[in-house]
Amino acid sequence: MVRASAAGKVILLGEHAVVYGRPAIAIPLSGLRATATLAPHPAPFHIQAPAVGIDAPLSALPADHPLARIVYLTAKHLHRPPPDALLRIESEIPVASGLGSGAAVSTAIVRALAAWYGVSLDPPTVSALVYEIERIYHGTPSGIDNTVIAYEQSIYFVRGRPPEPLPVGTTLHLLVADSGIPSPTRVVVGDVRRHWEAEPARYEALFDRVAQEVEAAREAMAQGDIRALGKRMDANHELLREIGVSAPVLDRLVETARRAGALGAKLSGAGRGGTIVALVEKSTARAVEEALRATGAAQVWRTEVASP
Ligand code: MEV
Repeated sequence: MVRASAAGKVILLGEHAVVYGRPAIAIPLSGLRATATLAPHPAPFHIQAPAVGIDAPLSALPADHPLARIVYLTAKHLHRPPPDALLRIESEIPVASGLGSGAAVSTAIVRALAAWYGVSLDPPTVSALVYEIERIYHGTPSGIDNTVIAYEQSIYFVRGRPPEPLPVGTTLHLLVADSGIPSPTRVVVGDVRRHWEAEPARYEALFDRVAQEVEAAREAMAQGDIRALGKRMDANHELLREIGVSAPVLDRLVETARRAGALGAKLSGAGRGGTIVALVEKSTARAVEEALRATGAAQVWRTEVASP
């Protein structure tokens, strides 16, 4: 039997603009994982994914189903057939919440199949395989989700380029709060594209302003200036509102986090629903977490970005 897992992710700054070639910053959520287990099975490859109600032979799934696609793609890459095995998928990452659940499930499957055949795949290879599936989930993905999850490290990312590691001058304490409202990335990314097509100059200018916030945030992180970083996150949230991807529930969570002492807060991921991310100090983390729960956050996770 082999077991492999992959982390969720949170986008700290730059979502949406990253689809249009601007930089973004993403962080793995190593404590929140999807797991793929492969066990010997007498019959041909069988998939169990209880969370999405799948319990079927691989051959019974449509060939373009994301789970089938990643199995076929990985097997092809490994020059092996899908083995006679039972694949069981379990995930702690809520679906359609901006936390990269689809990319994490795909990554866990790639890793499990490679481990089954005793092959070690490097992060760029895993990322490239998962990107193919992201295109089914997302339409026009930037590639940031598969990259941060395959590398499982904090990254500065520009579409089409290798990710750059992100130096941090001081440990960052983050809270990630799920609004509990699912929001498929594909839909929101499609809406932004329609707006961009209708008003290209306005949207290009908004994306440029997001890029400025990302660059300034990267600098602030390197210097360990958490107050400056928080301000950049706040500014990025305002820009995401202008881009049209916030929602009253997200604005409320962001406002709650700030009032309870967060240094900055913004929606994270595609928006409309899904999650927010708040930058806190260790001493205020608890109060902010409690305030978020009291305002109706379905779940709140704490994570850290450690300085070396
Ligand atoms: C999704 O995690 C981030 C978006 O920018 C989409 C993408 O980059 O593919 C909304």
